[in-house]
Amino acid sequence: MLMNRIETAVINNPARRAVQRWYEAPLLQRLGGPLPERARVLEIGCGPGYGARLILDAFGAARVDAVDLDPAMARRARRRLAPYAGRARVGVSDATDLSALVPENGTYDAVFDFGIIHHIPNWRDALAEVARVLKPGGVFYFEEVTRHALDRAVYRILFDHPEQDRFTDTEFLDALGAHGLHVRGHRTIVFGDFVLGAAQARLNA
Ligand SMILES: C[S@@+](CC[C@H](N)C(=O)[O-])C[C@H]1O[C@@H](n2cnc3c(N)ncnc32)[C@H](O)[C@@H]1O
Repeated sequence: MLMNRIETAVINNPARRAVQRWYEAPLLQRLGGPLPERARVLEIGCGPGYGARLILDAFGAARVDAVDLDPAMARRARRRLAPYAGRARVGVSDATDLSALVPENGTYDAVFDFGIIHHIPNWRDALAEVARVLKPGGVFYFEEVTRHALDRAVYRILFDHPEQDRFTDTEFLDALGAHGLHVRGHRTIVFGDFVLGAAQARLNA
């Protein structure tokens, strides 16, 4: 589900970028560990592309493929990532079916989700795709918004999100396990509103 205008303004904002850079990225790195050398990474729901920049600069990925369902967001991300030509590629795709862009299973050393899966009604299908495209032992870094937040009046009034099958932190972590992704570390913050962490694909997948 695409963002409405208010959420688009919140996401395209220096405050959002500061949180991503100074809080989320360092915490994800602590929870999931560093990327391997020459890592090839996928970011789902890249929005305006700031996360992909962090994946290249702060996590040290060799290259990143970033996708978003919204062509307008993909255009913004392409502009932001233009200086990284050759190391960054941006596509328009639904995270629940990446088969056109990523036909090969086991393509990536890591997949990043900066707050996108709670936008997807059939979000378990996105987890299945994450598990499919990760190499054996690859790591899924996630920052997610739970039902506790989405059910709050401020979220219901200001933003648009799927109404059905919203998840708690525990339900999200359990779903990772059900898709063969072993949680290495996680942290639930702000009274259960957000869950951040890292989960590893089976080595013998
Ligand atoms: C809350 S924004 C997060 C953007 C960015 N990751 C960030 O943290 O700033 C959610 C993004 O997910 C995208 N999105 C929603 N549903 C999607 C789907 N099924 N597949 C891929 N992207 C999706 C939206 O277009 C939006 O850019």
